[in-house]
Amino acid sequence: MKITNDIRYIGVNDHEIDLFEGQYTVPNGMAYNSYVILDEKIAVMDTVDARFGEEWLANLKSELDGKTPDYLIVQHMEPDHSSNITRLMQAFPSATVVSSDRAFVMMKQFFGDDYADRRIVVKDGESLSLGKHTLTFVAAPMVHWPEVIVTYDSYDKVLFSADGFGKFGALDVDEDWACEARRYYFGIVGKYGAQTQKLLAKAKTLDIEIICPLHGPVLSENLGDYLNLYDIWSSYGVESEGVMIAYTSVYGNTKKAVLRLAEELRANGCPKVAIADLARDDMAESVEDSFRYGKLVLATTTYNGDIFPYMNTFLHALLERGYQNRTVALIENGSWAPVAAKKIKSMLEGSKNLTFTETTVTIRSAMNDENEAQLSALAKELC
Ligand code: FEO
Repeated sequence: MKITNDIRYIGVNDHEIDLFEGQYTVPNGMAYNSYVILDEKIAVMDTVDARFGEEWLANLKSELDGKTPDYLIVQHMEPDHSSNITRLMQAFPSATVVSSDRAFVMMKQFFGDDYADRRIVVKDGESLSLGKHTLTFVAAPMVHWPEVIVTYDSYDKVLFSADGFGKFGALDVDEDWACEARRYYFGIVGKYGAQTQKLLAKAKTLDIEIICPLHGPVLSENLGDYLNLYDIWSSYGVESEGVMIAYTSVYGNTKKAVLRLAEELRANGCPKVAIADLARDDMAESVEDSFRYGKLVLATTTYNGDIFPYMNTFLHALLERGYQNRTVALIENGSWAPVAAKKIKSMLEGSKNLTFTETTVTIRSAMNDENEAQLSALAKELC
């Protein structure tokens, strides 16, 4: 697949995977992207997951048309991209690996070889000329591992963005970009907002016409829209007006209160109410929606003198990712000693810039008239 006259796509689609990175469901599969730049010198940009080595090498050879690659540029050492380094280095014994010093340490750890006599170690801002194309390497630590570099080709104005601007989903499935890119970002890179902001600041100084990520489609139109979303996500801004309600319910009584609140919110003109049953719905989707909207309602049961397990897991997922800048409301249920609201508040104590609503709803077993009035008051506060 041609990206520009000299840049070709040689990646693969994975429809076999059950859980990406051992935890994320990917109903539409996953793409591991790789590219080759054909110039006086030839550079291969990253490899693919271990299971697709043969297919990838065949894609590469077909684009090479008998030529030999001079460089393998390794931007990221996570095995979904690095697992075929050895395969390429064996197939092309004259090739040189180009990567960051930290990546070579990981190469040795993962694959037993750091190519001491066949490598170029690059630092932030250094360049490599292929002929017409000059590649400049930009350090992007923690987007998403510490060794990451991204690469700017000033000839075709292409940013090879590593995991940045990636998404879940194979490339032979047509689906909305933002939905799976947001779930991917908050799942995988979400903790590293500050580092992503730094990378965006560097990207702003470059004239970019095409973004070639390691997952998801090549982006070549409306780049401002994608950059803007990344700016909102990595600065923990609010992307959409609305309320996210995350709940757990053991016998359906907490759920009843949640559905009642949702009705009241809609009646009050709330533009969007997203609801997630944390025990049954995709956790990564619940996490992304919590960062997407500016208001979050947490409804749960007291359990073993603490918070119900799925809510506990969910809160840890938010906290790990630096949850902040939002309004939070609490609904707790407990038949004899409800403590969930107090426990949640103390868990969220260290989160920056959270505002708790005045109304906290305490249900004792099942919703009563007083709870209904509280839910109405809460809906008014939130909308
Ligand atoms: Fe797609 Fe962080 O690897």
